[in-house]
Amino acid sequence: MTDRLYFRQLLAGRDFAQGDMIARQMVNFVYLVGDRETGEAVAIDPAYDVQGLVDVLAEDGMRLTGALATHYHPDHVGGDMMGHSIQGVADLLAIAPVPIHIQEEEKPWVQRVTGASDTDLVTHVSGDTVMVGEIPIELIHTPGHTPGSQCFLVDNRLVAGDTLFLEGCGRTDLPGGDAGQLYESLTQKLAKVPDDATLFPGHLYSPEPSAPMEEVRRFNMVFQPADKDTFLRMFGR
Ligand SMILES: [Fe+2]
Repeated sequence: MTDRLYFRQLLAGRDFAQGDMIARQMVNFVYLVGDRETGEAVAIDPAYDVQGLVDVLAEDGMRLTGALATHYHPDHVGGDMMGHSIQGVADLLAIAPVPIHIQEEEKPWVQRVTGASDTDLVTHVSGDTVMVGEIPIELIHTPGHTPGSQCFLVDNRLVAGDTLFLEGCGRTDLPGGDAGQLYESLTQKLAKVPDDATLFPGHLYSPEPSAPMEEVRRFNMVFQPADKDTFLRMFGR
């Protein structure tokens, strides 16, 4: 499958949306995942400069057939953030009407932030697979950072949004956040992700842009607590 897999990690403000001050400060990653043989590709968390992302795909001989959103925050799906308007799903739909795949629990939040309609969104439950050509992307519901946060497992790569970073995890003090749920997501829902998988986070918050899960489980503080109570004392903010 690896021969067919098209996988790009793009840093907002550097690899696209160059010169966008908010993008440079937020250091979001957008991922493009596709099937090189069929030319189909999806964008994960398209934001900041959606035409730029579509252009990147075109330069690579790929075409956009869908989008996946890890969660509703405007730096991942677009919308207003701290007085700034960030491009995202709504702008993408205007230039390429493709389905937007989200977890069921995230629907009202995504709609509030992006204005996406019922027909724009395809809702999923944990364990669903989205096919891009012949490339399967497994959706894992990992609530905690937000109610319908999800991670994507494709070709032993975990695209984790703000659920898990190389160091630390997403904050749980924003609307819909729940530290107890995040603990369960990290220790139970993501337990199926093998140690030799590679973590691809939603932000460049560490010197390295990705890391083996084995390393993350060994060195990331969020995996150190022996039980939920300890986790909540450390990260339940
Ligand atoms: Fe977030």
